[in-house]
Amino acid sequence: MPKYAAPRGTNDVLPDESPKWEYVESKFRETCALYGYRELRTPTFEHTELFTRNLGETTDVVSKEMYTFNDRGGRSITLRPEGTAPAIRAYVQHNLGASLPLVKVYYIGRIFRYERPQAGRYREHTQLGVEAVGSMDPALDAEVISLAARFYRSVGLDEFELRLNSIGCPVCRPRYREALIKFARVRLDKLCPTCKTRAEQNPMRMFDCKVPECKAVLDDAPVLTGYLGEECAEHFELVRRYLEDLGIAYTLDGRLVRGFDYYTKTAFEFISGRLGAQNAIGGGGRYDNLVEEIGGSPTPAVGFGIGLERVMIALEEAEVELPVGLGLTAFVAATDEATHKLAVRLVFDLRNHGIAADTDYTGRSLKAQMKLADKLRAKYVVILGGDELRTSTVTVRDMSTSEQRIVPIAGLPSTLIGS
Ligand code: HAM
Repeated sequence: MPKYAAPRGTNDVLPDESPKWEYVESKFRETCALYGYRELRTPTFEHTELFTRNLGETTDVVSKEMYTFNDRGGRSITLRPEGTAPAIRAYVQHNLGASLPLVKVYYIGRIFRYERPQAGRYREHTQLGVEAVGSMDPALDAEVISLAARFYRSVGLDEFELRLNSIGCPVCRPRYREALIKFARVRLDKLCPTCKTRAEQNPMRMFDCKVPECKAVLDDAPVLTGYLGEECAEHFELVRRYLEDLGIAYTLDGRLVRGFDYYTKTAFEFISGRLGAQNAIGGGGRYDNLVEEIGGSPTPAVGFGIGLERVMIALEEAEVELPVGLGLTAFVAATDEATHKLAVRLVFDLRNHGIAADTDYTGRSLKAQMKLADKLRAKYVVILGGDELRTSTVTVRDMSTSEQRIVPIAGLPSTLIGS
């Protein structure tokens, strides 16, 4: 066992793997740019109240999963457990809505939740998210959904299911809430202690429960779509029509409520059959009241968050080949101390010409250096031996064809440039 290991539920992305992550992130950036979303970077931690007041006190995230601590100044700080509240905090704080009628942002950020770690569920994960703030247009709901779907496809993830629901708004929800409470009251003995409390306090949160017995009970529960008011029903109908127009397939899921209280109207999740229990590769929805709750003027909004780690697992399971990154152009191999000095000078010179180059700093044999060059996926090995030193030439070996040629040292950069 090593002396230290990373905390449970966290991941290291090692150099052999990181090009794949970089690639997937770059595809997300590209897709966002294609849709007119610009990057927003917010801090990793925020004042605790931002989350406790705006995500819902009875949600799993707020009630038991936040990394909260007092800083040295005695202020309560929380490592962000999601990206929407921070994005909206920034939107309001910097008055972003003043210069644009619709503010479209994306982010790539670390998210922290004290959950029980398992495959695909971590205590620190990365979310690729977007938020579009400033319009009620159902076409915008369809736009963010289509952005997510296009991103998945752009990285080679073609098999996923889009689940869709509408969870109404504070106008239509009270009637539903009552129906749900009535339903739960006569089944309390079959519910877990948390759901018993939720049944009275915030009954929709019962749908977040992971206990199989509770899930079985809730299978027969009334669904919100039957209680939608006229405006929410029409909005939902239009979202569905736009999705159909765009050729985006979806399944209706009346039990999809999402894990935060801020959602209104559209709620959606992307599910991958490639993952185990933690099969949501992304989720989001509309939240028309959050901007006002965070202190801005009433502004409707919609967005999603995609779990990058889960996307990576799904890609691996689907055996999608991802780029392994650019290797070195040149590995300069020296054969003794005298040539090592020259090799060091040469790699610096190559780098000055913009050529990715490296050499050995550990005194390895030529054979070992050739192996190393291969591992670093160098295109060429530049060999510096005694003979070469005398004649001011180097041997350039093409690693893919094993062809070798002799080149004057002075001409090396121009030989390698563009190759
Ligand atoms: P969420 O559903 O809690 O939504 O998280 C979004 C995605 O992050 C999930 O679908 C999943 O892929 C990934 N994820 C969540 N928790 C974990 C975890 N413990 N380990 C690994 N991956 C995880 C939100 O956070 C909302 N803020 C999304 C949103 C943006 N809604 C509107 N705008």
